[in-house]
Amino acid sequence: MRVGIGIYLAKVKVMSISEAELLKDAFNGFSRASDSIVNYYNVLESQIRLLKEEVESKNRELEKAKEYLHNILDSIPVGIVVIDRKSISFLNKTAERLSSEKFIDDLNNSNQKAGEIKNGKGQYRWKKDVLRNGFTGKEVIVIEDVTEFEKMKERFERDERLRAMGEMAARIAHEIKNPLGSMELFLSMLSDRKLKPKEKKYVDYIHFGVQTIDRIINNILSYTRPRSLVMNEEKIGKVVEETLDFMKLSIMSRHINVHYDVHYDGVSFFDPDMMKLVIMNFISNAIDAVTGKGSIRIEIKEEEKYVVIVVNDNGAGMSEDVRKNIFNPFFTTKDKGVGLGLFIVHNIVQAHKGYIEVESTEGVGTTFFVYIPKDSQ
Ligand SMILES: Nc1ncnc2c1ncn2[C@@H]1O[C@H](COP(=O)(O)OP(=O)(O)OP(=O)(O)O)[C@@H](O)[C@H]1O
Ligand SMILES: [Mg+2]
Repeated sequence: MRVGIGIYLAKVKVMSISEAELLKDAFNGFSRASDSIVNYYNVLESQIRLLKEEVESKNRELEKAKEYLHNILDSIPVGIVVIDRKSISFLNKTAERLSSEKFIDDLNNSNQKAGEIKNGKGQYRWKKDVLRNGFTGKEVIVIEDVTEFEKMKERFERDERLRAMGEMAARIAHEIKNPLGSMELFLSMLSDRKLKPKEKKYVDYIHFGVQTIDRIINNILSYTRPRSLVMNEEKIGKVVEETLDFMKLSIMSRHINVHYDVHYDGVSFFDPDMMKLVIMNFISNAIDAVTGKGSIRIEIKEEEKYVVIVVNDNGAGMSEDVRKNIFNPFFTTKDKGVGLGLFIVHNIVQAHKGYIEVESTEGVGTTFFVYIPKDSQ
């Protein structure tokens, strides 16, 4: 029996050793596996850290690129609006400056893809495009301020038109001048004779008519031909004051308020007599335009190399159609107007290498801006 028990114990002892080894192996295996997991985890962690850093640096680069793009978009003189499913998702600075919300809403809701639009005193050209390549539902509206361009275009066309009209008017005037001279001669021969009172009256009427035509023709000839200006160094303000003084009576008789502001008191080069004629024409047109509580504002200021004379009235204003024609010779809306005033003004200002701008709203008033170079030589 004892022997039997001994063998049994030995058996137990043998089995526990191999189990322990197995366990040891398993443990070693486990600790190797866990070491490699830890290593792997460390590698992964450092890779994740690297990736995170890379993503962060890419994000920073992206932010920078975005800022750079926005800076560029903000500094270009073109308005850009991005529309995302019909609502505004981006506006660059120029678009903010150029447009009101209503203005953009109008463009947004318009069925047209491009066009020209007026907003207050400005004129804009716009274009709408759908953004493609993954930007579903997005549209971009590009708005270009063409106010200055349109003004310059209008001025250029006006100069060309008036030059052609002026040449034609001068040629016609010249042709009329000769027969008119003969008519005057024969009229004076007639008036030397003994005439019946009725005949004398008729001769006087014809004489008056001939003189009126002669005056108009002289006006055309003196102001359409390029004439040499008598340039002086003077203050434009002085000329304005003298003209206002000269026109005092007609201004007072109409109970018109005159405001006069001088923001530029320096001297410049111009022909004082011609400039007086320019200011006189503007003031007399303003007097004709105002009714009731009339007021005329005259301002002198400087803008870069120009002295600017601003003549504003709160009179009848003009329609767009009238405004486009006011400088044409013989264009008038007045019963007793000749329509030469602004034509002469235009020629004088052009001879000074200056230019004129007009803003007018029917029922509100009119403002003329006359730009004369400080040094027209
Ligand atoms: N301040 C103003 N307000 C409204 N309309 C104006 C003004 N100035 C000019 N106009 C318009 O321009 C037109 C042309 O002006 P312009 O001075 O050339 O001729 P006119 O005044 O009609 O005649 P005139 O030859 O006697 O000056 C006017 O008939 C008028 O319709
Ligand atoms: Mg006039």
